[in-house]
Amino acid sequence: MAHAADRVRPTARVPAHAADRVRPTARVPAHAADRVRPTARVPAHAADRPRLTRTRPVGRDRPPPRYHPHMSERTGEPHPLDDFGWHPDPELVWFADPARSREAVEALGAAAWEVALDWLYDEGFRRPVGPMRYAELRREWYGASPDAPAATVGPPAAPADPVAAAAILDEFRARLAERQFSSYHRRSWSYFTPPPLLLSIVGELLTQVIDQGVDVWHCAPSGAFVEEETIRWLCDLVGYGPGSFGALTSGGVMANIMAMTVARDVQLARLVAGGPGRGDDPRSRGEPLPDPPRGAALAGARVYASDQAHFSIARALDILGFPEGTLRIVPSDDRFRLLAGPVAEAVAEDRRAGLRPFAIAAVAGSTNTGSVDDVAGLTDLAAAEDLWLHVDAAYGGAALLSERDAGRIGSLARADSVTVDPHKWFFQPYDIGSLLVRRREDLRDTFHREPEYYRTPGHEEEPLSFYQYSLEGSRRFRALKLWMSWKHLGTSGLGRLVERTDDLAARLATLIAASDDFEALPEDPALSVVCFRWLPGGRGAAAGLDEATLDAVQDRLQRALEISGEGWVSTTRLRGGTWLRAGIVNYLSTEDDVDGLLASLRRLGTDVVREMGL
Ligand SMILES: Cc1ncc(COP(=O)(O)O)c(C=O)c1O
Repeated sequence: MAHAADRVRPTARVPAHAADRVRPTARVPAHAADRVRPTARVPAHAADRPRLTRTRPVGRDRPPPRYHPHMSERTGEPHPLDDFGWHPDPELVWFADPARSREAVEALGAAAWEVALDWLYDEGFRRPVGPMRYAELRREWYGASPDAPAATVGPPAAPADPVAAAAILDEFRARLAERQFSSYHRRSWSYFTPPPLLLSIVGELLTQVIDQGVDVWHCAPSGAFVEEETIRWLCDLVGYGPGSFGALTSGGVMANIMAMTVARDVQLARLVAGGPGRGDDPRSRGEPLPDPPRGAALAGARVYASDQAHFSIARALDILGFPEGTLRIVPSDDRFRLLAGPVAEAVAEDRRAGLRPFAIAAVAGSTNTGSVDDVAGLTDLAAAEDLWLHVDAAYGGAALLSERDAGRIGSLARADSVTVDPHKWFFQPYDIGSLLVRRREDLRDTFHREPEYYRTPGHEEEPLSFYQYSLEGSRRFRALKLWMSWKHLGTSGLGRLVERTDDLAARLATLIAASDDFEALPEDPALSVVCFRWLPGGRGAAAGLDEATLDAVQDRLQRALEISGEGWVSTTRLRGGTWLRAGIVNYLSTEDDVDGLLASLRRLGTDVVREMGL
């Protein structure tokens, strides 16, 4: 790739003639079944692979636009574009006539893609984050002086007059490019933000252009099927049968909120009405569920989760109207897992106190350490105690993509509901989460509404309208990027990427275990998260430091790494101490990066302890 400075940048206003531009020839994958599968490590020679070819003529050879026959252009009259002369890029505002706009739109696309690739290769791979502190960056962003009082620093008024697209792209280069977080950097091991797969980025681009609203069926006629398909794939992955269903969400928080809503309106409803919860479903007799519990009917209800559950479980119960104390936190074990035994004891104690246990919220791949609760034991307990079992596998669910590593999660097939977030370990760009339910009717009975304006008469079958299965109304077409990139890699390919990151985490943990100046908690990661800390001077010397000093060393080390640009890890608190946290969902990382990160931390740590006077 030529260096950015050597390239001629097409501006949006002055498109190079399409035919003059060099077009990269991409490749069209033939149908999977037709191809001889290259093994992952030995890619087929490029020449053997099918090529992407342009199927439509370019530039002026293009046929005239295909408007509806009843929409004829009147000749001899002013062109609609003439109404848009007030804008520096009129053809990018009224772009309905390809003869007048298509070249400019193509040039805009080329310029935007070039800005994107310049960012990726000049910035994204250069460092994970910039060195600036929050206040400094905020002042700079808003053009305030370094000593301006914080209260006076803030956003300017909205732009009143138009600006040319080229200038806006230039502003991106000048003001934004250098100040991003990059998940692409090979030592960027952040929360759960992966570098997105290229086909998922392309999927997102197409999604924005076709702009489907996957709520009422008419607004996304085939989008609804693409979502249905990806939901099927996810349900198959967690082991759910044909009666299962789900909905894509903005992420794990939304999915967990929806899960707790379903648990309240299906399971708690049955318990409050006096029947056994899951044991006797009135719907199996053609009767409706009892009314969903509200207000006083929520008093005394109990949900069980560990101290490692995601904050969204507590938030969900809060906004669903449950009184304080509904969530009973059961301490996790020494490997941060929720075990069935302590939950059984808590349930028994609560029953004796006259309370109403109704759900367990387990986590398979916790945010903090990647720990996996005892899902098998909790599944049996939920069945025995008539409790709803929700498993938050927002991150960890992706381990099921790998035959080799699926066992680390265990079977989720008997859970009532499962959260899986493809924007974590399925390597998708934000946003795409999902809630899956074992019984489709649970989702529909909870969220179904029939507003008069969402009528769909005139079809022999009731169309699939996702707003009836989701908390959301207008819904982005989230499925396309997952659908396209899943096809591109296949389940086996996605699984290989998961394994790759698990292996990197294992390597990091092994190097740490073999060293005297790092320790990990737990020593061997359940999945691809490693929590560790640096022990200045080795274990013996660090034992002489008080906890607060050791915590401060980790915070300063994290910041030193951030400033260096050599890598990025976050910090967290575990068992009262501060730990560095590497959440490795980066399939671009290599073993060298693991070794290099530890070397960077050792070198930077030496400066940290010197500055601290230790
Ligand atoms: C286990 C788990 N559940 C839920 C969430 C929330 O997901 P989101 O932030 O995508 O809404 C996270 C986020 O990291 C998570 O790790």
